Amino acid sequence: MDVVDRINKLKEEKNAIILAHNYQPKEIQKIADFLGDSLELCIKAKETDADIIVFCGVDFMAESAKILNPDKKVLMPEIEGTQCPMAHQLPPEIIKKYREKYPEAPLVVYVNTTAETKALADITCTSANADKVVNSLDTDVVLFGPDNNLAYYVQKRTDKKVIAIPEGGGCYVHKKFTIDDLKRVKSKYPNAKVLIHPECNPELQDNADYIASTSGILRIVLESDDEEFIIGTEVGMINRLEIELEKLGKQKKLIPLKEDAICHEMKKITLEKIEKCLLEERYEIKLKKEVIEKAQKAIERMLNI
Ligand code: 13P
Ligand code: SF4
Repeated sequence: MDVVDRINKLKEEKNAIILAHNYQPKEIQKIADFLGDSLELCIKAKETDADIIVFCGVDFMAESAKILNPDKKVLMPEIEGTQCPMAHQLPPEIIKKYREKYPEAPLVVYVNTTAETKALADITCTSANADKVVNSLDTDVVLFGPDNNLAYYVQKRTDKKVIAIPEGGGCYVHKKFTIDDLKRVKSKYPNAKVLIHPECNPELQDNADYIASTSGILRIVLESDDEEFIIGTEVGMINRLEIELEKLGKQKKLIPLKEDAICHEMKKITLEKIEKCLLEERYEIKLKKEVIEKAQKAIERMLNI
C-alpha cells in the first residue's frame, strides 16, 4: 500500500475528512475530500458529520473549523510554521485601543485572525463576502482589520467609512505584487485577463479585469470563454485551477503574476505528515471554551448573511 492508500484507509477507519485550502501543494489537494477558499471551508466544516477533521491549511483556518465544531476533533498535520503572519497582526491590545477611539463603530475582522481576535469582533468576513458583510451593518463607520488592502476593496464598494486597522496590516505574499510585475506580464500576454485577489495592493486592484477570492478566481476561469489568465494570487491556486480544468477536459493558459508568490506557511504539510496525523491523532486544535463561544457568534453572524 502506498501512502495515499494508507491515508484513505485511516480516514475510513476513523470517520475522518480532509479539508484543504486552494494554496496547498498539488499532492495534498489531490487527496483532499474537499477543497476551497476560507468561506467554503468554514461552511464545509460546519456541515460535516465526520468525527475528525484534518485541516490542511494555516492556523486560523483550522481554528475556525474548531470554533464551528467544538465537539469534534480538529487536527493539523503540522503545527510548526503554519501560522499565517497576517492573522497575528491584530492582537487584543490593538483592538482595545481602536475600540476606545471609535466606541460606536462595529469591528469587522477578516477570518485571517486568531480565535482570540474573532472573540472580540462583532462579525467576521472573508475575501468572498467582505463587502456584503460591511454593507449589512447598520452604522456609517466600521473598523476593519487586519488587511488594509481588503479594506480598500471594501471601501470602494460601500458608502460607509471603513477604518483600516492596524496601519500597514496585510499579507506578505500578496503585498509582493507590483504594478511593474503586472505591466511586464501583460506585455508578454496582452490578451490575458487579469485576476487579482483583494489582498493585493490598490494599484493592482485598480488594473484588474476581475478582483476575486480564490473561489471567485476558480469560477471565472472555469466559466468564462477566455483562454488566458494572469493569476494574481499565491501560486498554489494554479494547482487548484489545473485540477478542476483537467476534470472538465479543458485546457487554458494560466500565467502566475509572480512565480515566487509563495505562502511558505501553506507548504509545510506533506502526505507523510497527514498519515502520521491520522495515526497519532495529532496535532489537535484546542481553544478555550469562552473564546469558542464568543468567536462562534462572530462567524455565525457572517454565515447567516
Ligand atoms: P481565500 O478566502 O480567497 O481563499 O483567501 C485566503 C487567504 O489566506 C488568502 O491569502
Ligand atoms: Fe496568510 Fe497570506 Fe498565506 Fe493567505 S497567503 S495564509 S494571508 S500569509
